[in-house]
Amino acid sequence: MTKRPWADTPFPLIPTPSGPSIQNISPGTLKVATEMCLAHNLILRNLNAIYLQAPNISKDSPTDIRDFILFCQVFHESVSHHHDYEESTFFPSIEEYTKEKGIMETSMRQHEAFHAGLEEFGEYVYGVGVEEWDAKRLLGIVDGFGEALQLHLRDEIETLLGLEKYGGDKLQKAWDELEAKIQREMTDKLKVIPAGLGAIDRTFEGGRHKHWPPFPWFVPYLVKYFFMWKYRGVWRFSPCTVFGEPKELPFVKVEQ
Ligand SMILES: [Fe+2]
Ligand SMILES: [Fe+2]
Repeated sequence: MTKRPWADTPFPLIPTPSGPSIQNISPGTLKVATEMCLAHNLILRNLNAIYLQAPNISKDSPTDIRDFILFCQVFHESVSHHHDYEESTFFPSIEEYTKEKGIMETSMRQHEAFHAGLEEFGEYVYGVGVEEWDAKRLLGIVDGFGEALQLHLRDEIETLLGLEKYGGDKLQKAWDELEAKIQREMTDKLKVIPAGLGAIDRTFEGGRHKHWPPFPWFVPYLVKYFFMWKYRGVWRFSPCTVFGEPKELPFVKVEQ
């Protein structure tokens, strides 16, 4: 039987908090931990899409390579932004309201564990030309930091749930401020928005999160016909459609 790998592998997606362990968790804490988890899964889906498709993009098609390199660049930009904003805005807000200096120290240390590898990834995809493109080299770099990244993306959800005793409403306030700041300061919308939307799977966990992120019905159309247009070849590599449905990865190798 043929099996077509999808973007939930090789780096496993993270289940959202559920079950008996969240019984005493307030709605604010649960919302933040769940939304962080869903955001982390966007990162993982795009990373998996890169990992699975990179080896099968032929050097005979410079257009494919060029588009894929840009896909990798946008991935790097999105992940770096996610962690930079946590360190510069979200974690300090948490320190402030909990009055616990260093409360996010474990997360900071985990960021450090994949930072150099992620930087190397960025240097490669921003520096390489179509002619010198080497998928093996790229995957070697991902192998160097992927596990540390996945571990952190998973652990951070538990860390957020552990903040419950300081007040879920305060955590949610810090989260809302972070989101507003990210939206205010967002540049490169023609890259970041299609990359993000192209990794949302609204069928995840039986469609329990199908309304996340919330936006008006016309947004996917706006993204499809406006935001995606300039770099439209790049979004072929995305794991989902702008309507939040998983799609076949066109350059994936089919296992027999
Ligand atoms: Fe995070
Ligand atoms: Fe983080």
